[in-house]
Amino acid sequence: MSSSSIGVAVIGAGMAGRAHVAGYRAATAVHSAGLPEVRFVAVCDVNGTIAKETADRFGYQRAETSWQAVADAPDIDVVSVVVANTLHREIVEGLLAAGKHVLCEKPLAPSVEDAQAMVAAAAASDRQTATGFTFRRSPAINAVREQLESGVIGRPLHLDAHYWCDYGCDAMAPMSWRYKGGPGSGALADIGAHLIDMAEFLCGPVESVSGAVLATYITERHLPVGAVVGHALAAVSEETEPVENEDLVSFTARFTSGATATLSASRTAYGHPNALGFEIFAETGAATFDLARASEFGFVDRSAPHATHGYRQVLVGPEHPYVTGGLPMDFPGVGRNLRLLRAVVTSAENGGAAVSVS
Ligand SMILES: NC(=O)c1ccc[n+]([C@@H]2O[C@H](COP(=O)([O-])OP(=O)(O)OC[C@H]3O[C@@H](n4cnc5c(N)ncnc54)[C@H](O)[C@@H]3O)[C@@H](O)[C@H]2O)c1
Repeated sequence: MSSSSIGVAVIGAGMAGRAHVAGYRAATAVHSAGLPEVRFVAVCDVNGTIAKETADRFGYQRAETSWQAVADAPDIDVVSVVVANTLHREIVEGLLAAGKHVLCEKPLAPSVEDAQAMVAAAAASDRQTATGFTFRRSPAINAVREQLESGVIGRPLHLDAHYWCDYGCDAMAPMSWRYKGGPGSGALADIGAHLIDMAEFLCGPVESVSGAVLATYITERHLPVGAVVGHALAAVSEETEPVENEDLVSFTARFTSGATATLSASRTAYGHPNALGFEIFAETGAATFDLARASEFGFVDRSAPHATHGYRQVLVGPEHPYVTGGLPMDFPGVGRNLRLLRAVVTSAENGGAAVSVS
């Protein structure tokens, strides 16, 4: 650190970047008392207008338009990288080389090879690194995980989970980086990355995936007239470009524990702005979660008498993980998430064949 305080910067001031910008502002209030002062130093975006507006709005000292300026700045210690996935590696490696601590958004990179190089760079540095697997800090998901790990409902047998969004439903939603890249870089990388991470978070390592199907329903999208932020609708031109990746992915995963997961991720799930959910069946109990009701989970076990046996609603409170205090994100596995994403694509390309995950 440059001093007893911590200088933070966010690279990318789009949809998720603004959440990071806001998150740092809240950090000392949300986390334990006694943490160092946080200085809100810079918001960086190649779109200088967005960078300046965001810096001003959230009270950051300055706006930058190049990530190199952030890397070179001696008053910045910690940086969030919140830009399109294809840009992550160059920026993260540059920041680590400049001695910054780095929180990089998911998915870490567009390929396993890039992710492994980034993890190697992180390991070779003495800096803190993390990835934005947001749901690892969900109190309700952690509460379900605690029940599974404690063994009170036996071993997990079947996880049925989905991440359904509707941001791609509108054929006039503008072309953006999200619709570019090869198979697997669409719904699988964008939201399936969270789904697979959550599946392993609940059930342990995946051994193989099979039955994968990738489908694209809207094959051309109009180019935006101006800047596009996240999934927002914007004015578009007559000109279109091909969509290069999938709107939907579905597949089966087998865990080393013997459990099975049926999983789907979609950006064309009409009526679902942001629907992550699951039902998990274990030997003597089960649990459900729905992001629309993020502060609760459903739970059933053998503790009730037969006449009143059934699911009960559990509201999360201070006795559950991460409701009070907080912890930074992990940097789980050496590019593991990317290896799983690639296995799903390989399964889809081979008619749904089983693909083992080393
Ligand atoms: N953890 C989560 O829940 C979550 C949610 C949404 C997005 N994300 C991730 O965050 C990242 C960004 O997604 P988004 O939806 O915010 O994208 P976005 O398109 O809304 O914003 C990206 C911003 O990066 C800027 N940019 C482009 N190139 C740049 C460069 N070289 N240097 C600086 N800025 C540059 C763009 O001008 C744009 O403002 C992606 O990796 C995405 O997967 C994570």
